[in-house]
Amino acid sequence: MSISIIGAGNMAKGLAARFASAGHPVTLASRDKTKADAAAREVGNGVSSAPIAAAAQSADVVFLAVPFDAAGDIIEAVGGFAGKIVVDITNPMKADFSGLSIGHTTSAAEEIQKRAPQAKIVKAFNTIFAQVLQNAGQAAGRPATVFVAGDDEAARAAVAELARGAGFETLETGPLATARYLEPVAALNITLGYGLGHGTDIAPTWQRAA
Ligand SMILES: NC(=O)c1ccc[n+]([C@@H]2O[C@H](COP(=O)([O-])OP(=O)(O)OC[C@H]3O[C@@H](n4cnc5c(N)ncnc54)[C@H](OP(=O)(O)O)[C@@H]3O)[C@@H](O)[C@H]2O)c1
Repeated sequence: MSISIIGAGNMAKGLAARFASAGHPVTLASRDKTKADAAAREVGNGVSSAPIAAAAQSADVVFLAVPFDAAGDIIEAVGGFAGKIVVDITNPMKADFSGLSIGHTTSAAEEIQKRAPQAKIVKAFNTIFAQVLQNAGQAAGRPATVFVAGDDEAARAAVAELARGAGFETLETGPLATARYLEPVAALNITLGYGLGHGTDIAPTWQRAA
């Protein structure tokens, strides 16, 4: 599956490394071409760079690895991602990380879906620290769990399969509205990791029989 990642920061590079290692063609795209070029060089392993519109057009799956507030402009710039699987990894944290800027009755994922009604938005990877991506998807020596939410069942399953192929455990949480629960889980992860001293070698999971 071809993958384009919009963003050239910590999450973009970590996701690119994981998916390239799993054998997928990966393209990084950024508003600043030199940053996308540099990020692709840094990750290596065949990862390329392209302008955002071209990267969005060519990929089977597009990841939005940018701040939540940037998603709307990108959706507009690429013409809406019609028919495309678009993975929202964002956490709508307040600037001072004191909490989420939206929630309860909506989520970043649902707001992104409203801005791109023709796209198949899937929430995933928002509870995975960038450092866990750099550590081959492992937290505390075990594969981290990627929670996957989305209204389009086939798109949700495809993203879960991508994550498993890249070495993660997965748990599908149902419709996109369950992102209302996943985004606070990420906020708790940030609180534990950065606020309470547990560090970034952590990831939430769900104990269950199967
Ligand atoms: N870091 C984590 O552990 C983690 C974990 C889970 C989820 N997330 C989520 O992942 C997303 C990316 O986080 P990150 O840690 O990778 O951040 P980052 O290292 O700061 O990278 C952010 C990227 O977004 C780009 N960007 C920022 N504003 C933009 C705009 N208005 N239009 C286009 N591109 C823009 C930046 O480009 P410039 O360099 O040009 O500014 C940069 O390439 C965020 O939504 C975050 O909540 C992060």
